[in-house]
Amino acid sequence: MNVKDLLNLKGKVILVSGGAGSYGKSIVEGLGEAGGTVIIASRDLKNAEAVAQAFRDKGLDVHALQVDQGVHESVLLLKKEILESFGKLDVFVNNAVARPMKGYDDPIENFAESMRINATGMMDILREMCHIMGNNGGGSVINISSMMGMKGPDLSNYEETDMGTPPPDYFFHNGGLINLTRYLTKVLAPKNIRVNCVSPGGLFNNQPARFLENYNKKVPAGRLANNDDIKGLMVLLASDAGAYINGENILMDGGLNA
Ligand SMILES: NC(=O)c1ccc[n+]([C@@H]2O[C@H](COP(=O)([O-])OP(=O)(O)OC[C@H]3O[C@@H](n4cnc5c(N)ncnc54)[C@H](O)[C@@H]3O)[C@@H](O)[C@H]2O)c1
Repeated sequence: MNVKDLLNLKGKVILVSGGAGSYGKSIVEGLGEAGGTVIIASRDLKNAEAVAQAFRDKGLDVHALQVDQGVHESVLLLKKEILESFGKLDVFVNNAVARPMKGYDDPIENFAESMRINATGMMDILREMCHIMGNNGGGSVINISSMMGMKGPDLSNYEETDMGTPPPDYFFHNGGLINLTRYLTKVLAPKNIRVNCVSPGGLFNNQPARFLENYNKKVPAGRLANNDDIKGLMVLLASDAGAYINGENILMDGGLNA
């Protein structure tokens, strides 16, 4: 098959959790530009709808639905709405993240709240979305982890900034997600569902100048990720061009960890 046809997402229904967030918007845009029908699932439906409308204004087929992945009934309602409005699901980009913990010394309740959404809730939405995909013949899951799920923090990046110590929950659940990817690859193979993980480096988001100076000099690419960097990888993993990529964790960090 021609590679342009392999990469084409026309006819594929794709859900992006947290699709109105920083990396989420780029992921939605890339998948929409490749021809997919993309659903943003977000807690704040009004904001998600505004983001979806802005993409529709650019000619992309983007929609919004509400979900709080920490609430089982909300996940079940999302599942019902996807089936009612779109009839199937081909791709789930598991991208949402809650950030209730700000640093090492936060109360332990903040760690528990993070696990409620980023571990238990995430497993819930993964399983329910895979149930839809399994029933329509298979699909592709793309878990978004982080390079911080693969190693400890580089504390020198935060020297002479007021950014504090990175929170431990983020390292815990992102590390877990990378190995959960491998588990799901084996368990979901009979349902014809591929499962991969992408571990990005930092996205440029107007971080403090001193942080940028500390970070950028260590990156062979010389910069943080920009809004286009994640798009191609998403299209590859979502599409038939990625049909033989399965159980993989792909580091996307501009060479920082080479
Ligand atoms: N931003 C970065 O520099 C960076 C770097 C590496 C990896 N990542 C990864 O990218 C992914 C997205 O991160 P981001 O920086 O874009 O985050 P973000 O905070 O900008 O967006 C996260 C989204 O998740 C949503 N969310 C939070 N709790 C939710 C819940 N209970 N139910 C449903 N949605 C919920 C938020 O509303 C938000 O839209 C995460 O998996 C993160 O680990 C981000």
